[in-house]
Amino acid sequence: MQTINTPLGLKLPKLGLGTWPMLGDECTRAVLQALALGYRHIDTAAAYNNEAAVGQALTDSSTPRDQIHLTTKVWWDQLQPKAMRASLEASLKALQTDYVDLFMIHWPGKDWDLARSIETLVALRDEGKALNIGVANFPLPLLRRVVEEIGAPISAIQVEYHVLLGQQHLLDYARQHDMALIAYTPLGRGKAAEQPEIRQIAAKHGVLPSQVALQWLLAQDHVAAIPKASSEANQRANLEACDIHLDDADRALIAALPKNQRVVNPDFAPQWDPAEA
Ligand SMILES: NC(=O)c1ccc[n+]([C@@H]2O[C@H](COP(=O)([O-])OP(=O)(O)OC[C@H]3O[C@@H](n4cnc5c(N)ncnc54)[C@H](OP(=O)(O)O)[C@@H]3O)[C@@H](O)[C@H]2O)c1
Repeated sequence: MQTINTPLGLKLPKLGLGTWPMLGDECTRAVLQALALGYRHIDTAAAYNNEAAVGQALTDSSTPRDQIHLTTKVWWDQLQPKAMRASLEASLKALQTDYVDLFMIHWPGKDWDLARSIETLVALRDEGKALNIGVANFPLPLLRRVVEEIGAPISAIQVEYHVLLGQQHLLDYARQHDMALIAYTPLGRGKAAEQPEIRQIAAKHGVLPSQVALQWLLAQDHVAAIPKASSEANQRANLEACDIHLDDADRALIAALPKNQRVVNPDFAPQWDPAEA
């Protein structure tokens, strides 16, 4: 499995397993199965209510903890220093681990003290509770403040990204600053595979439309993807998507698809880049 290696020490397998909205035993089983198949990157969050289930899988698995990249996140109403610390402590306890590989702010806060939240994020990294820190769902102007005004050592940004939603500005920035861009909802929750152009490319190569959508992301420098898959067949298909090759004609067809079809847009979302609304 290819990894994204950054100067801040992030070693991120390009394909990970998304765990939302799996809960309880279903989630434990899916994570265990993924680890057995060779996944080494698991994505969870305090808000998913499945960290204990993920922790159970990590404990039950024969794969050593230090070979697994584990991401968790703190919810946007827990960004005051004390609350953020408590959230990470609770996550570590549920996950049955002393550290996470990546700790992220899940969404920007409301009426919040950005600098204090980021200082706390950095302190948790300095204390070794998170090997790397990042932010999710931050539009570029906010990410720039975090990196350029506050000077925080941000290793990754996680945002929705797939064949129907562009993220060119954030991706350019991530590359310039040597951080990973983790694509969530990378299959557009099924929408990607419904596109006639994606199906046409899949038929040409004798692969699945979902694999075309994933490979388009995985082939991009600095980009990782975290499809959620519960069945063994889907988990395996997504792993195998790492080995597919798309050609220039395929990429041109995908480039011409609309790039503004956002799937995840809750009422607490920030104002998105108009180019990628
Ligand atoms: N940071 C954030 O704010 C944020 C927001 C949303 C999501 N996320 C993360 O991103 C992860 C993935 O996003 P998502 O769940 O929204 O969407 P997604 O990964 O685009 O789509 C998941 C759906 O695709 C199906 N699927 C998976 N592999 C498939 C395959 N090979 N062929 C056909 N169907 C397949 C899954 O079915 P089965 O389960 O039946 O296999 C599931 O119904 C989440 O689990 C979560 O970890 C983060």
